[in-house]
Amino acid sequence: MSTQHTIVEAHPIAIRLRNVTKTFGRGESAVAALRGIDIDIPAGELTMLVGPSGCGKTTLISILAGLLARDGGELRVFGQDLATLKRDRLARWRRDNVGFIFQQFNLVPQLTVAENVSVPLVLQGESVASAVRRANELLETLGLEGRGKSAPLNLSGGQQQRVAIARALIHDPRLLVCDEPTSALDAELGRRVMELIRGRSTSPDRAVVVVTHDDRIFHLADSIAHLDDGRIDQLHRVPRDTPARAAH
Ligand SMILES: Nc1ncnc2c1ncn2[C@@H]1O[C@H](COP(=O)(O)OP(=O)(O)OP(=O)(O)O)[C@@H](O)[C@H]1O
Ligand SMILES: [Mg+2]
Repeated sequence: MSTQHTIVEAHPIAIRLRNVTKTFGRGESAVAALRGIDIDIPAGELTMLVGPSGCGKTTLISILAGLLARDGGELRVFGQDLATLKRDRLARWRRDNVGFIFQQFNLVPQLTVAENVSVPLVLQGESVASAVRRANELLETLGLEGRGKSAPLNLSGGQQQRVAIARALIHDPRLLVCDEPTSALDAELGRRVMELIRGRSTSPDRAVVVVTHDDRIFHLADSIAHLDDGRIDQLHRVPRDTPARAAH
C-alpha cells in the first residue's frame, strides 16, 4: 500500500502523481525503479527530490517531463495526462512546456555551445541568428562569455553543465526539471545557478523540480521529497522564514 503525500498550505497543484510505477527489463533481470509514487507538486514552487543513488530519482523526473513512459498509475502535468498524447504531440508538448537539465548534460557534440543553447528557441520557430544572440546573452550571465563558438567537448565539466542549464532555461519553460544541476559547480557558481533556477519557480503558472545531493542548496526548496527504493518515504516543507532562505 502506498502512502499519499499531499503538501499542505501550498499553491495549486502543477503535477499530480498517483501510484506511478516503472520497471526496467523483464524476468530475472527486471528492476522495479518506481514502486508506486504518490505526490502533488505545487505550482509556483521549487520542489527538491533527494535520495540514495539508484532510488529512482532520474526515472521519476524523466516520467514527469514526458521523456519516459510510466508503466502504471496516474500522472497529470498542468492537467494533461501525458499517456494520452501520441508521439508527435508529446514531443510538441515537451518543446512548448519543458526545460530539462540532464545529469550527464547531453550536449550535442556537433553543434557549438551557443547552437546547443539555442535549440529550444529554433524548435519554437525563432530564427537561428536571433536564437544564437539570445543564447550568447544567457551564456554571459552564467559566466561563459566568449565561449559560444566553442565545441562543447572542449569545455570543462562545470562549463558544460552551465551550457546544459542555459539550454533548459532559454525558452522560459513552464516546467523546469533539473537533475543534479550543481554537481560540477563550485560554491559560488552553484549559488548563482540556483538563484536563476529558483527565480523561475515563483510565478504561479510554473513549477521547478530539482534532484540534488547538494545540502548547500536545500534551504532554497519550498519542499523536499525523499525517495527510497522507488517510493517517497518523507516529504518536508521548508519553513519560509529561515534566515538562509530570506537572504535569497
Ligand atoms: N534504462 C534503464 N535500463 C535498466 N535499468 C535502469 C534504466 N534506468 C534506470 N535503471 C535502474 O533503475 C533504478 C533507478 O535508477 P535512476 O537512474 O532513476 O536512479 P537515481 O536515483 O537517479 O540514481 P543516481 O543518484 O545514481 O543518479 C536503478 O536500479 C537503475 O539501475
Ligand atoms: Mg540519477
